[in-house]
Amino acid sequence: MAEALRILGVAGSLRAGSLNKALLRAAAELAPDGMEIEVFDLAEVPLYNGDVEAAGDPPGVAAFKQAIAASDGVLMATPEYNHGVPGVMKNAIDWASRPPREAPLGGKPVGLIGASPGQTGTARGQSQLRQAFEFTNSYCMPQPELLVFRAHEKFDGDGTLTDEATAQYLQRYLVAFGGWVRRFVPAG
Ligand SMILES: Cc1cc2nc3c(=O)[nH]c(=O)nc-3n(C[C@H](O)[C@H](O)[C@H](O)COP(=O)(O)O)c2cc1C
Repeated sequence: MAEALRILGVAGSLRAGSLNKALLRAAAELAPDGMEIEVFDLAEVPLYNGDVEAAGDPPGVAAFKQAIAASDGVLMATPEYNHGVPGVMKNAIDWASRPPREAPLGGKPVGLIGASPGQTGTARGQSQLRQAFEFTNSYCMPQPELLVFRAHEKFDGDGTLTDEATAQYLQRYLVAFGGWVRRFVPAG
């Protein structure tokens, strides 16, 4: 049997009660056979600064880049701020896009998901995020999409996904993402 896919989950939010962190936890629980999702917290990734980078990646950045490199694919759960990608998420991608020829995001399969209390479920934020992955030369899965709208109604107070339709939607998404990632993982 093929080895389980190692997927790195990254939420573009730092807050403990984040809906997007909760969505990733649900993804880790609902992952299909043959897929393991480990979640990386961006709390220790500082703001990008070329001077700091020139002196050597800070530990939080080095850990993030190493975790991406060790994964078969990255699953990004993005919030949407002012119709765009939150700085926390974009900043992490900026660090992981460097140095350009050896960046851990280069050639990496990526999936985008997102949750917001609004009606569009991060559609605009995800769209913007997709553009960044053109420059990083990452393989961003085109379809299906996973947009969790009115997300505050779909998780309980502990951040557990309680909406059955969303759970099924997430499971279908993960099966498709597994198929996408396997296209880029050498058969072994
Ligand atoms: C500065 C700011 C801007 C926001 N802009 C949007 C927006 O454009 N679209 C949207 O659906 N929600 C917007 N929201 C609401 C977020 O979707 C909501 O706070 C969400 O819970 C954030 O994700 P998290 O729960 O993972 O932290 C905004 C929130 C903040 C703090």
